[in-house]
Amino acid sequence: MFDHTHGLSGHRILTGDRPTGPLHIGHLAGTLAGRVQLQVRNRQTILIADLQALTDNAGNPAKVSSNVLELALDYLAAGIDPAQTTIALQSGIPELAELSTLYMNLVPVSRLLRNPTIKSEIEARGFGDSLPAGFLCYPVSQAADITAFCADLVPAGADQAPLVELSNEIAMRINRMAGEEVLPRAELLQSHAPRLPGIDGRRKMSKSAGNAIMLSDEPDDIRRKVFAMYTDHGHLRVSDPGKVEGNVVFAMLDAFDLEPEAVADLKERYRAGGLGDMVLKRRAEAVLQDLLAPIRARRKMLASEAGEIRKILEAGTAAARETVQPQHSRVRRAFGLA
Ligand code: TRP
Repeated sequence: MFDHTHGLSGHRILTGDRPTGPLHIGHLAGTLAGRVQLQVRNRQTILIADLQALTDNAGNPAKVSSNVLELALDYLAAGIDPAQTTIALQSGIPELAELSTLYMNLVPVSRLLRNPTIKSEIEARGFGDSLPAGFLCYPVSQAADITAFCADLVPAGADQAPLVELSNEIAMRINRMAGEEVLPRAELLQSHAPRLPGIDGRRKMSKSAGNAIMLSDEPDDIRRKVFAMYTDHGHLRVSDPGKVEGNVVFAMLDAFDLEPEAVADLKERYRAGGLGDMVLKRRAEAVLQDLLAPIRARRKMLASEAGEIRKILEAGTAAARETVQPQHSRVRRAFGLA
């Protein structure tokens, strides 16, 4: 795959996921592969954001708790090394909750309602009159996450930009209150990998849309899903010219094929006509089987050692608590609390 690290080193990196389901290859292309590279020369923490997940899953808390371990398994199977990356559970760091409470006093509700990410999420979830206060305020809690770890880089999708911006505004307010630089600014590190489409080609890949290839998928699932991928409905005969844009199989090859020159050649032949979908799909299947076989094997091995995974999570959470202490104390002091 590509180099996502941009040669970065010495940064304090915070990134996170809501534990609401196992990860898929869209996560791998988007952020997971990047994290595996960034962990080598930076101080990276990955937060399993269970409190944030509860802001729209309070009716189904088991969904959140049962996915914490799954998420940790996905990280480890994909190559996150707990000796290099701290994996921490948000709810195990009560300092984050207290920071959120304090930050909430600095953010007008109108500002949260205007946040474009939150606005579209509220619409998508159809909360209507039942918008949970916790959901509206999760960007404040995320600002607590980012600032508590003194993160200067946040690798995430473009949708997270307004959240990083809010976090910076809060940090600046705190610095002004404290009369010194207590909290640094953070920058979004946006992955250059384009959003991976789902196998249906209609939306981005997501488990809830049922169009995802999961990291834990078995070879048979992978084969079935690759052969169900949307290509180009206008490409009826092999001899017809085919479309590369919007073609899911090419999106997969672009994301994961280790031979980009060969993919460029296939695109040319596909556009010209004379290249059948089956040839492409066979190649995509081989690429994805090779990609996922070692991840699946590691995941299975690790899943049989749930006790060990829990220990890794506990140790990471304890270490993260240590890391956030100084910022937590300084923010308390900025608010006149001892
Ligand atoms: N909002 C992020 C998501 O939905 C998850 C998240 C929580 C996060 N805390 C974070 C991401 C801190 C980056 C930094 O994916």
